[in-house]
Amino acid sequence: MKGCIRFLLSLLPEQVQSRTTAISAALLSVPAFLLILDCSDPLANPKIQQARQSVPELHRSGFDQFVLNNCHGCHGLQGGGDGPLNSSGRFDIPNLSQPEQYRHGATVPEIRNSIEFGVEGGRTGMQGYQNIPAEHIENIARYIHWLQNP
Ligand code: HEC
Repeated sequence: MKGCIRFLLSLLPEQVQSRTTAISAALLSVPAFLLILDCSDPLANPKIQQARQSVPELHRSGFDQFVLNNCHGCHGLQGGGDGPLNSSGRFDIPNLSQPEQYRHGATVPEIRNSIEFGVEGGRTGMQGYQNIPAEHIENIARYIHWLQNP
């Protein structure tokens, strides 16, 4: 009997140790998972979150699609044409917050058209986005139109 208890006790530290390892591995995987989530979801980026706060509720789904389709990469979050992909200034991008700068029309239907079919012309870096569902294009166009008069 005594020998049996001693035997069980000798097992204990190892079990405690392996359980601790399992628990800490599980706990460590939580921040690792959050990190992966943060990297794959551009909307989780704090700078983008902050910009989103200043967009009215009505235009947030348009803002989200603008970001998820990487329009802000060239156009910038406020449409200034100052996105990271244009840091060298190699694209000649109109400021979408200034209606008079548009070359292909500044109304919602015209903007929708520019997004879906891209724009013609020598200066273009703007492809057509026929892969984006019509409903999302509509919301993006309304978000861009709102930028003209926020
Ligand atoms: C690679 C850079 C780039 C990306 C990404 C990009 N654009 Fe553009 N976009 C441009 C450039 C450059 C022009 C101006 C082209 C011209 O006038 O020749 C433009 C023009 C436009 C126009 C027309 C403005 C006008 O002059 O009438 C709209 C609207 C627009 N983009 C919306 C979008 C949206 C929405 C997205 C994302 C779905 C997007 N763009 C992604 C570079 C980009």
